[in-house]
Amino acid sequence: MKTIIEPFKIKTVEPIRFTSRIERERILSEAGHNLFNLHSDDVLIDLLTDSGTAAMSAKQWAGIMEGDETYAGSKSFYRFEEIARGITGFRHIIPTHQGRAAEKILFSIMGGAGKVIPNNTHFDTTRANIELSGADAVDLPVAEGSMPSLKGDFKGNMDLEALEACLRREGSERIPLCMLTVTNNSRGGQPVSMENIRKTAELCHGHRIPLFLDACRFAENAYFIKLREPGYEKRSVREIAREMFSYADGCTMSAKKDGLVNIGGFLAMNNDDLAQRARSILVVTEGFPTYGGLAGHDLEAIAQGLEEVLDEHYLKYRIRSVAYVGERLSLLGVPIFQPPGGHAVYLDAKAFLPHIPPHEFPGQALACELYLHGGIRSCEIGSVMFGKTDTNSGAFQPAGLELVRLAIPRRVYTQSHMDYVVECVGEVFEKRDELKGIRIVSEPPVLRHFTARFEPL
Ligand code: F0G
Repeated sequence: MKTIIEPFKIKTVEPIRFTSRIERERILSEAGHNLFNLHSDDVLIDLLTDSGTAAMSAKQWAGIMEGDETYAGSKSFYRFEEIARGITGFRHIIPTHQGRAAEKILFSIMGGAGKVIPNNTHFDTTRANIELSGADAVDLPVAEGSMPSLKGDFKGNMDLEALEACLRREGSERIPLCMLTVTNNSRGGQPVSMENIRKTAELCHGHRIPLFLDACRFAENAYFIKLREPGYEKRSVREIAREMFSYADGCTMSAKKDGLVNIGGFLAMNNDDLAQRARSILVVTEGFPTYGGLAGHDLEAIAQGLEEVLDEHYLKYRIRSVAYVGERLSLLGVPIFQPPGGHAVYLDAKAFLPHIPPHEFPGQALACELYLHGGIRSCEIGSVMFGKTDTNSGAFQPAGLELVRLAIPRRVYTQSHMDYVVECVGEVFEKRDELKGIRIVSEPPVLRHFTARFEPL
């Protein structure tokens, strides 16, 4: 059969609330034109993030009942540890309440003033945790990763030449570790090839520098390798994932993505000394090493989720259903980051709204209009998130890309929800010339996109 179907039946449903455009105009204005300030009841289709928004399976909910809430030595921990270790191959599996907690622990040990940490592209919390430690976060994506309209199989790759130059320049005295984010969330959710992971590892290890994967979306990345990289067509996704991890010395993981859960994460590594130091911090900031900021039932749900995410019927449906949205939008002429990513379709706001300059935040303007027009919540990944205004000179430094991410929660929305999204984006595209820019009224010193307030121009 040609039709790819959702590989599940729906057992529980949650109603969504409809609002009118007039209501949404008032709501958005009260929210300071920042979609992070909306109440979820006022959102019809929520594509803000794929993080922690998955629908859990009946088996995961059963695991919630099974969860062992013992303080030390919970059997749920041991099941979680066994499954996470089986997939990653890492010796030490340290549970954390989410991905950024793993980052915080890792960089408080390995970061610090004068240090440099390269990545294909750091996610915003990764960058913030590195910078908070006093270290420099350096992005080294391949050039194709900055060209939205160019199609390519592995646009998430690390620029190996740039990495080599960086490793030579800074050396292992300044580079405590290198990261590689799979898939590359800040650049269109694009995958990283196995060849690129292997070569990144070879370069790092040649300089005695450990490599850590930011593995939030490891299963989606592994499935892209199966689809696109010669030699992997017949390998199971589990084997491919295992090979990806085999080149690395550790990983940070937000289980809120490919763990198919609403909360949780872990830090994993092979180095015993590093693991001991990480666990010492864990006890102070997260919890005892056999629960690490999570309930026993969360650990059960993650263990089950990590098994389910490697089901190839699920991954086929997942990657295909995101591609479907991207293809339908492309047919309407809507400029998107090509090809569609694993967890999201990214609208190219620069090409969508060429009349709005970066300092008037085209991505934010577009995200606001998608909400006003159809009640859809998306997320700006552009100059609001990554642009900077120099506090001394007032000079504005835009982000390289102005994207609006339509992140698709896992197992939550059906094809008709997605048809509605395509129709809404298409209608906004038809009247794009009428859209105006937006300005920042107030902003915090770090991660401004979460709490800044805006005003339409
Ligand atoms: N790394 C990547 C690549 C991410 O996408 C995220 C989260 C994190 C680390 C941090 O994990 O949220 O569990 O602390 N990304 C979410 C998103 C928030 O919307 O893309 P966390």
